[in-house]
Amino acid sequence: MKTTFPGPKAAAIIARDHAVLSPSYTRPYPLVVERGEGAMIEDADGNRFLDMNAGIAVVATGHCHPKVVRAIQDQAAKLIHMSGTDFYYENMVELAERLAAIAPGNVARRVYFGNSGTEAVEAAMKLARYHTGRHQFIAFLGGFHGRTMGALSLTGSKSIQRKSFGPLVPGVHHIPYAYCYRCAYDKHPDTCAVECVKVIEDQLIKTILPAEEVAAIVLEPVQGEGGYIVPPQKFFDELQRTAQRHGILLIADEIQSGMGRTGKMWASDHFDLTPDILTVAKGIASGMPLSVMMARAEIMQWKPGSHASTFGGNPVSVAAALATLELLEQELVENAAHTGGFMMRRLREWPRLFPCVGDVRGLGLMIGIEFVQDQATRRRWPELRDRIVQLAFERGVLILGAGQNSIRLSPPLTISRDQADFGMGVLEECIRAATA
Ligand SMILES: Cc1ncc(COP(=O)(O)O)c(C=O)c1O
Repeated sequence: MKTTFPGPKAAAIIARDHAVLSPSYTRPYPLVVERGEGAMIEDADGNRFLDMNAGIAVVATGHCHPKVVRAIQDQAAKLIHMSGTDFYYENMVELAERLAAIAPGNVARRVYFGNSGTEAVEAAMKLARYHTGRHQFIAFLGGFHGRTMGALSLTGSKSIQRKSFGPLVPGVHHIPYAYCYRCAYDKHPDTCAVECVKVIEDQLIKTILPAEEVAAIVLEPVQGEGGYIVPPQKFFDELQRTAQRHGILLIADEIQSGMGRTGKMWASDHFDLTPDILTVAKGIASGMPLSVMMARAEIMQWKPGSHASTFGGNPVSVAAALATLELLEQELVENAAHTGGFMMRRLREWPRLFPCVGDVRGLGLMIGIEFVQDQATRRRWPELRDRIVQLAFERGVLILGAGQNSIRLSPPLTISRDQADFGMGVLEECIRAATA
């Protein structure tokens, strides 16, 4: 660290930002980024940080991976835009072919390209309605699916995200997620009867939601913004059974959990989940804007003109995605599994070492740590979580909160064991300092 925070250049930029940018943005600490390389970030004053959130789980291949940069430069010199929804170009076809081939479940898929996660979710909602002729949806409390009107209607993360924007799209019903550390039904995961899915048939369908009106159940296979929550296998088994029984589609939002982050290409792969529709964004193009909605081929049968986007599948973003996919397949998904396992072995000790750590959970490099005032009562401790996020920043490690009282670790999938060790060491120091 060369300065206190914010340093002089950062302070000047922040003052200009505050005068002109939308105050709806949330900035947890005064980080003004100048450049990034791999898992490292340098700020405007020359301070260096280990980035353990990868631009909110986006730069899967690290910041400015040379192969991704080259792919972007080469493509930009050839063709920047043509609008893939009106004309053809080959790299969009190639990426669609490759994604369809690796999508979860061995089923034929078709691919729609958008620019942001929320657009992929909008497209998924529209396709689900179009295909089923039904208009209602089931989503989960704690879920985050984006901020445009349709996606926001599914989002059940923080009330500030919905406040003053209603009425939202009607017909979305939220139920508790399989958040076993805080089971809404007060059950134990080893002995429960998956009440969090049974509620669909036992209560919703019987009382307020005729099954033949439900287009889809929308879920994050690992809940992201909600706190990096990993459900048990039986949650997915029961969901698939319930959906199939009633002809309801399953939409897996893998915008945060996809593209190798969990140590497999898709979180769905950990649970043998074959979603009817899948949404992908964030890590797909290492930071270039691109999103994907993939569906079973027999479901994506809408007519020309029914849905499209000017920029969706932009050739430069697609080139970045092809380079990203190659790196993921060559080594980075494996690194996410190995380095994630390495981190988890150390982090699993934290509840024993630190009374304020209630739960540590995750898959691969998607790790959540929940802070509590008391391990027995599990009373949430959001102020401590916020303090730890600040202290980590001041000590050179970038992390973010998730859920009410958790932090999330979602580093680039390139992170080395030494970097991971450094990051975890700093976080241990921060926990000690914050609870001293
Ligand atoms: C699971 C999930 N879905 C959708 C979104 C929305 O993506 P975007 O911000 O690109 O619109 C996010 C963003 O955090 C997400 O985590």
